[in-house]
Amino acid sequence: MSNAGEWAGERDDAQPVARVHVRAPGKVNLFLGVDAPDEDGYHPLSTVFQAVSLYEDVVATPADDVTVSVSGVADPSTVPLDDRNLALRAAKLLAVATGFDGGVHLELHKTVPVAGGMGGGSADAAAALLACNELWRTGLSHERLHALAARLGADVPFALMGGTAVGSGRGDVLTPALSRGRYEWVLLVDDEGLSTPAVYRAFDEIAAEDRASSDEAELARARRIDPVQVPPEFFEALLSGDALRLGGHLRNQLEAGSFRLRPALESTLERLAADVVGGIVSGSGPTLALLCDTAESADALAERLRGEGRTALRAHGPVRGAHVVSAAD
Ligand code: C5P
Repeated sequence: MSNAGEWAGERDDAQPVARVHVRAPGKVNLFLGVDAPDEDGYHPLSTVFQAVSLYEDVVATPADDVTVSVSGVADPSTVPLDDRNLALRAAKLLAVATGFDGGVHLELHKTVPVAGGMGGGSADAAAALLACNELWRTGLSHERLHALAARLGADVPFALMGGTAVGSGRGDVLTPALSRGRYEWVLLVDDEGLSTPAVYRAFDEIAAEDRASSDEAELARARRIDPVQVPPEFFEALLSGDALRLGGHLRNQLEAGSFRLRPALESTLERLAADVVGGIVSGSGPTLALLCDTAESADALAERLRGEGRTALRAHGPVRGAHVVSAAD
């Protein structure tokens, strides 16, 4: 073992662990306000995350190298197994940060839609960080894991934290938010994912066009693009535990970008408006997050959508963040 890592001193040299199973949740952005990009190209966000009960399960076992395998996805080719894989990057980052020079095999079992705007890759990364920290007994604190998570991607810290949280900065500066009750969701999955950077680019194009336009209708649309902060009524709705009230406050400014790339999303939301208490694109999309007032009405809607040949998943939130399910010596 080398001691070169920035947090190398924290390693606990007890017997290695043989197998660690960690579970991490996907998320819906209940509110997503987007500001103009900063000099790094990242958009400052004003967001509220809710962790929902679609999970990524990661099983970590000792190996010579860092490797990853995937199950649970209809088309495995949609999940890269090389250095583009966020779980693999998470394990490598933890090894470098702690000076650990062994390996791990990570088995990912996915149920969060791939490239769906629900933070599935981020959940994989959060789960991999936690699993390797346990497997390798590297003993990093929650704060340090959070710092590594933020280096991996804007949504990774929230997958560690779970529950309900307000995110600022890139979405990685988190404060837990008070929320009451249980919210029932139908997640309407699109067969083909959307690229998050492409959606942000489309959003920037629309904002630029709107600024250049003097047309009244365009200017009305531009107001949709003006950066917004989470209003106080939003937090009151969250605290009420009343889905109907929260539903009226759901908002995602980024969906303008998703609609441009996938116009059918907007018409589907319009078509389903009467069946739900609120509906938005989840994050950058294309998954649609449909909030229902009861579990029964959500089950019925999911069933109906499946009858139309669509992929509709059921979930509730908020749920806890990444956690160890089992660890065997
Ligand atoms: O942080 P993450 O790797 O998930 O972000 C993917 C891409 O989404 C970034 O490279 C950037 O193009 C865009 N993004 C952004 N502003 C954010 C978060 C993500 O522009 N706050």
